[in-house]
Amino acid sequence: MNQLGFLPFVCISVQVVKHLEPFRLSLEKLKVVSTRLRKDMIRGLGKHTHHRAAVKMLPTFVRATPDGTEKGDFLALDLGGTNFRVLHVRVMEEEQKMVKMDSQLCAIPQEIMLGTGEQLFDHIAACLSEFLDSQNLKGQTLPMGFTFSFPCEQKEIDKSILIRWTKGFNCSGVEGEDVVKLLKEAIHRRGDYDISSVAMVNDTVGTMMSCGYRDQTCEIGMIIGTGTNACYMEEMKNVKRVEGEDGQMCINTEWGGFGDDGSLEDILTEFDKVVDRTSINPGVHTFEKMISGMYLGEIVRLVLMKLTEKKLLFKGEVSEALRTKETFETKFISMIEEPDSGLENAKKILTELGLTWDLVDARVVRLVCETISSRSARLCAAALATIVDRIRVNRGLPHLKTTVGVDGTVYKKHPKMQPSMHFLTPDCKIKFLVSEDGSGKGAAMVTAVAHSLSKHPHCMMVPPLCFTVRND
Ligand code: BGC
Repeated sequence: MNQLGFLPFVCISVQVVKHLEPFRLSLEKLKVVSTRLRKDMIRGLGKHTHHRAAVKMLPTFVRATPDGTEKGDFLALDLGGTNFRVLHVRVMEEEQKMVKMDSQLCAIPQEIMLGTGEQLFDHIAACLSEFLDSQNLKGQTLPMGFTFSFPCEQKEIDKSILIRWTKGFNCSGVEGEDVVKLLKEAIHRRGDYDISSVAMVNDTVGTMMSCGYRDQTCEIGMIIGTGTNACYMEEMKNVKRVEGEDGQMCINTEWGGFGDDGSLEDILTEFDKVVDRTSINPGVHTFEKMISGMYLGEIVRLVLMKLTEKKLLFKGEVSEALRTKETFETKFISMIEEPDSGLENAKKILTELGLTWDLVDARVVRLVCETISSRSARLCAAALATIVDRIRVNRGLPHLKTTVGVDGTVYKKHPKMQPSMHFLTPDCKIKFLVSEDGSGKGAAMVTAVAHSLSKHPHCMMVPPLCFTVRND
């Protein structure tokens, strides 16, 4: 036996594997999950059923993907995580590309994430003002897109009511309100510039639209980052809540809410239940809490705690850090699963967490990470397969070839998240296009498509979207 101690590893892992069993979802189980999601999607689209639907299926009023002829200069705002960004984007028709002219990042401190809506929008308006000054853009009129990555009931492209906060935000006085109105009010409070209208976009839609400019077969946008969600082009005749039968409309599924009605009870583990109970939004976004970056690290930490209590790890000794909520960051999972340096990374991370480990411990920790991230990837694959297959059936096709625009740190950084997304869709060939700066550029693209559609006599979108800056 070598220094790695093969035998003890095998002995321990049998018990460890037993504890990890509830996270392993068979192909059969994933198909059941997919069937449930399919039914929930139909419920979300229905005129009389959407009120109670866990999967909201929100109409976005985006009725066309880019055709490559869009052009112009745009401003894009992007709020979805701990940062707020303002971008100046140029869309160039000749070269079919979007260029980020410049951008500015403003951190959103925790006090603001949990403060009042007024504080949040004042902070955003201040950041925008600073950017316009730095770019010498005050006094110009540029169309503006606002990527706001939270579930919103979109009344029109420039009227969007926040249904609920997710991903650690909980600003008072915003749920149930029109986000565009709150932004405009904050800008008016400042009085140094003004805007006329804004195209509101979810980040999934931004991702689909920015990838759609590069590849016109892109009709799905998916995010696996701090949160998770997907959007896709649905046939208008199935969008019962919006008048009109012709053409298509992009639907923001808000699949993060899948399971909020208890439909995933059979696959939730005791650890998922603790993560939910101790979150700032218990009972909400059940599916997201099993998948996305905001929660994966915490699930791993809870499993490690349990295994240590059972004396299957660290000789039964828990460190202060491991006992503390959210100390095991999701990025550690990717680092520990790195094919070459993973084990070395695991050792460093465990030492930093104040744990006394041996090689068997490091391997068990890696197994725990692999189990949790692989469940996340398999659940996403099942959900994506549901959407892709819905598009195929909608079009009455035996086979479908389609492109999915993808963004999010978990998808981009995790070494094994990208492969294995195909196994549930034998009738469909899926191409994944990783978006660069999708949220920001996509908002500009939605605005650009809105603009070019508004020039056509049968414009199916919104009136021209304008951004006016007063310079006084
Ligand atoms: C939000 C979605 C968003 C997703 C990814 C979720 O928490 O509800 O609107 O698309 O995160 O950012």
